[in-house]
Amino acid sequence: MAAGGFVDQGGSRQYEGKVTVYVLITCFVAAMGGLLFGYDLGITGGVTSMEPFLIKFFPSVYKQMKGETGNDSTYCKFDNELLTLFTSSLYLAALVASFFASTTTRALGRKPSMFLGGLFFLVGALLNGFAVNIAMLIIGRLLLGFGVGYCNQSVPVYLSEMAPASLRGALNMGFQMAITIGIFAANLINLQTAKQEKGWRISLGVGAVPAVCMCVGALFLGDTPNSLIERGQNEGAKEMLIKIRGTDKVDEELRDLIDASEAAKMVKHPWKNIREPKYRPHLVFCTMIPLFQQFTGINVIMFYAPVLFQTLGFGNNAALVSALISGGVNMVATLVSIFTVDKFGRKILFLEGGCQMFISQVAVGIMIATAFGVKGQGSFSKVEADALLSLICIYVAAFAWSWGPLGWLVPSEICPLEVRSAGQAINVAVNMLFTFLIAQVFLSMLCYMKFGLFFFFAGFVVIMTIFIFALLPETKGVPIEEMNVVWRSHWLWSKFVPEDNKANA
Ligand code: BGC
Repeated sequence: MAAGGFVDQGGSRQYEGKVTVYVLITCFVAAMGGLLFGYDLGITGGVTSMEPFLIKFFPSVYKQMKGETGNDSTYCKFDNELLTLFTSSLYLAALVASFFASTTTRALGRKPSMFLGGLFFLVGALLNGFAVNIAMLIIGRLLLGFGVGYCNQSVPVYLSEMAPASLRGALNMGFQMAITIGIFAANLINLQTAKQEKGWRISLGVGAVPAVCMCVGALFLGDTPNSLIERGQNEGAKEMLIKIRGTDKVDEELRDLIDASEAAKMVKHPWKNIREPKYRPHLVFCTMIPLFQQFTGINVIMFYAPVLFQTLGFGNNAALVSALISGGVNMVATLVSIFTVDKFGRKILFLEGGCQMFISQVAVGIMIATAFGVKGQGSFSKVEADALLSLICIYVAAFAWSWGPLGWLVPSEICPLEVRSAGQAINVAVNMLFTFLIAQVFLSMLCYMKFGLFFFFAGFVVIMTIFIFALLPETKGVPIEEMNVVWRSHWLWSKFVPEDNKANA
């Protein structure tokens, strides 16, 4: 074996190298993309529960909330499609953008995609902060959506490619960590601005600050060795490898990356390709993982926690404080994942998280059913309200160390180069599609399904936990270009991924 690599007991190749300061800095800047995404996820829930904002842009919702429209079921207080469109339109735009982003990321590199993403965020946040009519509001949201599409497509790929295999999980999770910090920051800012008449402008406009950091950072970042090779710059790739691995012994890794890239170039149509049988596991996971991630129901909490808590009788301030608490739990629990994912692996986190989410969702459903019944009339005592908040925190914690980070990590690390951009684009698009759907229909679903909604999501959690148990092989510590080893030893995927498939190795 040439200098710089060896084969471990599991048959996968390991390369030399440590975590360098350079890698950490690049990951920090790249993670700004996650921060921006999180900020946009977290900000609307609070803003849409602010009265001055509703009066200015959504007067009909305001009337409905005040009970002036005749529907007195608690479950239906905020059921309004225009209001949900304000939240959900962003994810629709992100869906469209993720496909363009896939081409940019492949043809021009990961860096330009990140820069463009930052720029969209910047303009979107400014338009929203200065909005004088609903058109500015919606156009701003659409631009933010483009930002999300571009950043979510490129940042996870960037992080996976920069990180040494042994730490790929933890570094990649910097992305999720940043998402949760963004959500928490949004909750915190909402709590402050809710007290001011024009506070919503600050809430929506502050997103411009991380957007500037992202743009400036992306200008100075280097691109990944994989991307440089993909664009024929092998020398540059070697220099970058030396820099990020902190050793001169990178020949082995470089050669493998070049081999993988050459094999990938023979593949002219990644979109057609990924439908070939040998990419079946990749296609299945890049589609099902984001779908299931959204069907955990997490965004019901992330988008609508303040509205949900108000619906359940919490006062305006209590609702925002509760959202802040669950946002804090989300952030801290993500750390658990960061520190355990490369030690215990992905699967155990998925399975434990699934069980914990199921139990807490069923308990939340029962509590709401008992207090409000089918008619949606009733209230929580202080003790019950605290118990409900605790259950929601237990649920959020479970998501935060399982499906939250792993929902982005696993799809980004399983795809070989030739289908990586396509796989990641599918992942982002499916994620955005279902984020959009849930954002759009949640308030109506709550109105019609009432407490049953929580049982609905609990049912999905059972299905996805079985899915992971049966179909996902462990990918912990396997170098990204060596992933085929794990498919070949799986009872189902070995039927699709042939032994001699050099294009993947
Ligand atoms: C999901 C988001 C979710 C967030 C919560 C992310 O992984 O993609 O939809 O709002 O986690 O932390």
